[in-house]
Order: sequence, then structure tokens, then C-alpha cells
Amino acid sequence: METSGGHLWGGRFGSGPAEAFERLNASIPFDIRLAPYDIRGSMAHAKMLGERGIISPEEAKTLVRGLEAVLREVEAGEFSWSLADEDVHTAVERRLRELVGDVALKLHTGRSRNDQVALDLHLFCRDATDRIKSGLLETMAALVEVAERHRDLVLPGYTHLQRAQPLLLAHHLLAHFWAFARDLQRLGAARAAANVSPLGAAALGGTPHPVDPALTAEELGMEPFVNSLDAVSERDFALDLLYACAVLGVHLSRLGEEWVLWTSQEFGFAELDDAYSSGSSIMPQKKNPDAYELMRGRAGRLIGDLNALMIALKGLPLGYSKDLQEDKEPLFDAVDGILAVLAVLPGMLRTARFCAGRMEEAAGGFALATELADFLAARGVPFREAHRVVGRLVRRCEELGISLEEMPRAELAAAHPALGELPGGLLTPRGSVANKRSPGSTSPASVEEQLRRAREVLAGARR
Ligand code: ARG
Repeated sequence: METSGGHLWGGRFGSGPAEAFERLNASIPFDIRLAPYDIRGSMAHAKMLGERGIISPEEAKTLVRGLEAVLREVEAGEFSWSLADEDVHTAVERRLRELVGDVALKLHTGRSRNDQVALDLHLFCRDATDRIKSGLLETMAALVEVAERHRDLVLPGYTHLQRAQPLLLAHHLLAHFWAFARDLQRLGAARAAANVSPLGAAALGGTPHPVDPALTAEELGMEPFVNSLDAVSERDFALDLLYACAVLGVHLSRLGEEWVLWTSQEFGFAELDDAYSSGSSIMPQKKNPDAYELMRGRAGRLIGDLNALMIALKGLPLGYSKDLQEDKEPLFDAVDGILAVLAVLPGMLRTARFCAGRMEEAAGGFALATELADFLAARGVPFREAHRVVGRLVRRCEELGISLEEMPRAELAAAHPALGELPGGLLTPRGSVANKRSPGSTSPASVEEQLRRAREVLAGARR
């Protein structure tokens, strides 16, 4: 990377920047990826300048055509930049001048890099929310497919990571679906916040040129800003997206943690397809759930990215400060991080195999104790009393070294007469889930209803 003069602000300075300062100051190594957005924003700005008579219609046309050529170079990977370009805005303008000549020097009329960079970032965020949303929808579709394919598998639900009660696997998978459905809403809100154009705010207080921010906003499919100072100072839209990514990251991490457990030999509930596992360089038998661990690990970075921008912003007075250049890397890191995870997850979910026997076995035994207590309570025994009776039974089972299902009828009846009428089949994982009556429960009927609503969410989001 070559360093030399050519800065947009050179006029006032007697000498060029020190090389070390130039390296620190430059954002071009990372903001070059904003080039397509920068160019689209410049096209909208040039058109507006022409329409408002700030430059001639011919000049506007030349600028737009030149910008189209720069965009083609960017898209073809032929656009070259150097550290002397400082940032993407300078690089694009420099190239435009090389292509169309000095008319390029008029493009920056009524505009500052402050409203320009804010616009680029809004466009980036709008695009990113769309891409994340589509990856998330694919993941949610995979959850629904797997839930439908394994409608009657049962596994234990856990509290304190102790076996608690039997659940339908579909109910468990759909629990993640509903968390992701809330992520979709957060992404929708982040998209709406990103859909505001700061162009026309200029450096901070507007401009004497008769620009029309509504015109540029409309050209970009956005709403115009209301206050020029707010427009160049705020990064709330970026925070919104970072927050949406952080919460989504936490959800992905919790799902990942469960699969790390499920695929362990201790649980043995599921096995990942070879395509989504990796081995050990020394232990030949290993098959590791690296992708799920990375998902769990990445959540930390996503939370860090949100914090990085919050902290960068919190002490800033209104108006542009160079601290704002620090907004980009955390944002890019979060978006790339989430997209990379969402690219693998649907395939991992669809190709995993479940060990029905292991899951069902683990869902039996004392995980059925609540079922017994509820059976008694449904027959008029106060629940506290029922809880005590079953608690004693569990202790008795432990003394005898048997499970609840193996408890002789006579012992049950002795614990409480009503237990003598316990229907066969209730004290099984499937009997237990089938016995649930409350809305939103793990009962097969509730799970069917959830599947119906989940399909509705997917169809609605894709419309
Ligand atoms: N590279 C800068 C950034 O990322 C662009 C805006 C520069 N504006 C300025 N007044 N120095 O924030």
C-alpha cells in the first residue's frame, strides 16, 4: 500500500501526513466494502443536484455515468485503492475524477463526508438486516422441518440441567423457533431505523445550496432525516442492528450449547452428520461439534461488538468526531459473524440424526414424578399433599433401586389409594406428554397448533 498526498482536505496543510498517522487515520482498509453503497448514495446526490439546478443536467448525467463505471469496476473486483485515499469516499471520488475529469469536483457540493458516511452505513445496515433475516428464516424453516419429521420423539426437559419432565422433541425445537421469531421482529425494527437517509445534512448544520433531502431519500427508498445535527451524530440504527445480532447470538449460543450436550457420549441424544463435525489430530475416535462450539463462542464477540459501539458513542458530543470511524469494524464483525453461523446451521439441523431410544429412556423414570402428583391432584388430593406422597415414593424407589414405572401396584396403592387406579401408559414419557392439556404445552395437539402458526410466520415473512 502506497502512502502519499491527494487528501480531500489538503489545501490548508503545508505538509503531508506522517506515515504512521496516515495509517492510523485511514479507514480505507475496512470501509472499502462500503463502496457500492457510497456510489449509490453519490448517484442519488448527483441526480438531486441536477434536478435542483445546483449543477447542470449534463453535469449530473456525466457524474451518474461515471459513478456507474466506478460501480462496475468495484463489482468486477477491479477497483484499486491506496492508503493515500484515506477512506472509501475519497477513493470513489478520486476514481470518478480519473474517469470523467474535473466535473467530478462538483459532486461534493452541498455534502460532507459526515452525512455521506452516515448514509453509507445506513444502506449497509439495511442490506445486512435483509441478508440476516433470510438466513434466519432458513434456520427457522429447518427447525420446523425437523420438528415435523420427528413429531413423536420424546426427550427429557431439564431444569438446573437435572431431568425435569418429558417433552416432545418438536416442542423443544419449536421453543428455539419462537425465540428466533422475536429476533425477526428485532431485525425488522433495526431495518426500519436504518431506512433513514442523512444526505443533505452536510457537515452538521445543513447547507446554503437548495438541496432536497426528500428527493435523495426517495431515490434510495428511504425516509429523509428531520434534524441535520442528529442525522450526522447518531448511530442508533447501528446499535439496533448490533443489539439484534447480540440477542440472536445469545439464542444461537444456547441452541449450540444444547447440541454440544446432546451429541456428547454422556447424553447420546443426537449425532451430527460428518459434514458438520471435525476430528482430533491425536485422538482418532473423536467427532467434535466444533460448529456448535463456535456458535456458542461467537456470542461473546457479538456482545462485545455491541458494547464497543455503545462505549465509543457514550462520551461524544453531538457532531462528527473521528471516534465515529470506530463504528464500522464491530458492525462488520457482527454481521459477518452472524451470517457465517446462519450459513451452516440449517444444514446441520437437517442432517443430524436423533437417537430416539436414548432420549426416550432418559425421559422416563423420575422425570414422570410430576405426572403422578398431578394425577393425584386431579382426584382432589391437595397438590402439596400429592407432592409429598410422590416424593416419598421416589425415595422408596431409590431404596429399592427401581424406577417409578417399575413400582409394584400394591406399593403405589399403599402410598395413596387413588394411585391404585393409575391407568397403564400414563407413567411413560409419551403418556405424560399426551396427558398435557394446557395451551402452549408439549401436548401433541399444542405442538400441531404451534407447527401451524410457525408455518404461518414463515409464509408471512417471505411474502
Ligand atoms: N472515514 C470517516 C469515517 O469512517 C469518514 C468521515 C470523515 N469525516 C470527517 N469529518 N473526517 O467516519
